[in-house]
Amino acid sequence: MIPSNYADNAEREIHWRVFKAIWPHLLDYRSRIALALFCLVLSKSASVSSPFLLKHIVDSLSLDARSSLLVIPAALLLAYGFARFSMILLGEIRDTIFGRVTERAMRKIGLQVFRHVHGLDLDFHLDRRTGGLSSDIERGISGINFLMRFFVFNIIPTLLEIAFVIGLLLYNYGAGFAIITIIAVILYIGFSMVTTDWRTEFVREAAQADSKASTLRIESLLNYETVKYFTNEEYEAARYDKALYAWEQAKRKNRLSLLGLNTGQALIISVAMASMMWLAAEGVADGSMTIGDFVLINAFMLQLFLPLNFLGFVYREIRGSTANIENMFALMSLSSKIHQTDDAPPLNITQGAISFNQVSFAFSPDRPILKSLDLCVEPGTQVAIVGASGAGKSTLTKLLFRFYDADQGHIAIDGQDITAVNLESLRQAIGIVPQDTVLFNDSIFENIRYGNPNATDQQVHRAIELAHLAEFIAVLPEGSDTIVGERGLKLSGGEKQRVTIARTILKQPPILVFDEATSSLDSQSERSIMSALQEISKDHTSLIIAHRLSTVVNADKIVVLHQGALVEQGTHDQLLDKKGRYFDLWTAQLRDQS
Ligand SMILES: Nc1ncnc2c1ncn2[C@@H]1O[C@H](COP(=O)(O)OP(=O)(O)OP(=O)(O)O)[C@@H](O)[C@H]1O
Ligand SMILES: [Mg+2]
Repeated sequence: MIPSNYADNAEREIHWRVFKAIWPHLLDYRSRIALALFCLVLSKSASVSSPFLLKHIVDSLSLDARSSLLVIPAALLLAYGFARFSMILLGEIRDTIFGRVTERAMRKIGLQVFRHVHGLDLDFHLDRRTGGLSSDIERGISGINFLMRFFVFNIIPTLLEIAFVIGLLLYNYGAGFAIITIIAVILYIGFSMVTTDWRTEFVREAAQADSKASTLRIESLLNYETVKYFTNEEYEAARYDKALYAWEQAKRKNRLSLLGLNTGQALIISVAMASMMWLAAEGVADGSMTIGDFVLINAFMLQLFLPLNFLGFVYREIRGSTANIENMFALMSLSSKIHQTDDAPPLNITQGAISFNQVSFAFSPDRPILKSLDLCVEPGTQVAIVGASGAGKSTLTKLLFRFYDADQGHIAIDGQDITAVNLESLRQAIGIVPQDTVLFNDSIFENIRYGNPNATDQQVHRAIELAHLAEFIAVLPEGSDTIVGERGLKLSGGEKQRVTIARTILKQPPILVFDEATSSLDSQSERSIMSALQEISKDHTSLIIAHRLSTVVNADKIVVLHQGALVEQGTHDQLLDKKGRYFDLWTAQLRDQS
């Protein structure tokens, strides 16, 4: 229901800057465009010549020279038919030829924006509604389509045609007809622009109401289960209906204002046509014009006012399109908060030692999350991070992966500051099994292969083995081709976690991070997976975040995080001897189990 080119803001003006940005894409295909323009000229010539043919047909029909009746009009009629046909055919050929140019530009710009948006930082994506972001891009791209098609092949040709017809009228029939046409065209365009500006608000209101209704609809359907848990179907329906009511009201105003616009336009056209016909009829009456001339003028008027009728619509759409493209380009002007210099060297992993040096970090300045944290992970060892919920454990992994940069201090891998190395090489070196896993709505097999799109089937099966998924897959009727459902919700929590583990195994990174990677598994599965993980991470450096302390007792080092600060570290036994925070956590968990 949303008009494809509705934009929230700045819809009131044409953004000329946009044309400058699109122009280079037109130049990519010079010969195609030349050909399309050639077709355009031919088709317009055919369209301008057909009223003349019509005039001659009518004139020869009105002569009572019976002998010529059968011959001359037949040729003219053929020519007339041919002119009409070539006018339409050439128009179609022109669109077909030019379509390629438009589509290539849409593809190139679309890809550019997609890449750019993927390059923006996590914070940007957490702040934006993905649905809104995606429709911004979609509207921008269809705006480009519209702009290219209509600006090149509608507005300019229509204006040219108008000028041409006025010239012909002036040359053949004197100033009277030309003046009426000029006045009518100016009145028509002026009236359409003013009225369209006035209507913009109603159009926007309707679009906003529609956008609201669709957001409600999507959110409600996405939260299907939650709605059922609280039997809130009626509540949801009432909310949705309220939004629909607002939409209905806005549409009403919209429609009434459209009635005003169309009536005014029709009035201008009809008055102009009637006056021209009047003039022509007078000409015929006093013998200075033939019936054919009368018909010709009528045909010209129809030919002229039809595209003019379209101009009001095109004007509004062009304004909307440029605003949408501008919105999309605004995305392009954003830059990621995660910087890297162009010549940053790739990360060179020799051993896989990680060190956090005096790292402080806050998502917002008034609430520090990590406080002067020092942490050293020896190469090839396994370090466990434990601590209360909200202590900053996951944040630590996000800093390591450079989703965010530390405010103070620095993080180094094998002595290289992670902010000084190539970002891609850093991220390739780290495999993360995140706390909240989301899968693509694809098969289990393809979801695992995502860890390394070049992996062979055999390697994927090996990863499946290692992640203890083989047994589960064996009982599925469709095996590893089973589709996991939206966001992976057709799998159980533990199954989802194992798919993610398999995916990370396939990536084979030198550094592994498991953030609550086995929290949804029963103790027995957890134990077997943990032993598999020990196996996989034998020669790797690994960080394990876990609430269930029993899973990390074998870690080379356990680090206790409390309110963003590192308060204790050592092996399980050392920490128990200390009788500090770790000891408290341990005894509390033991008590819960018994
Ligand atoms: N993007 C964000 N913007 C603002 N605050 C955030 C953001 N992400 C996390 N936080 C806050 O930072 C704090 C630390 O979060 P973090 O995810 O690191 O905790 P955690 O130790 O992993 O906890 P848990 O054991 O529950 O997973 C939390 O209080 C959280 O509310
Ligand atoms: Mg966490």
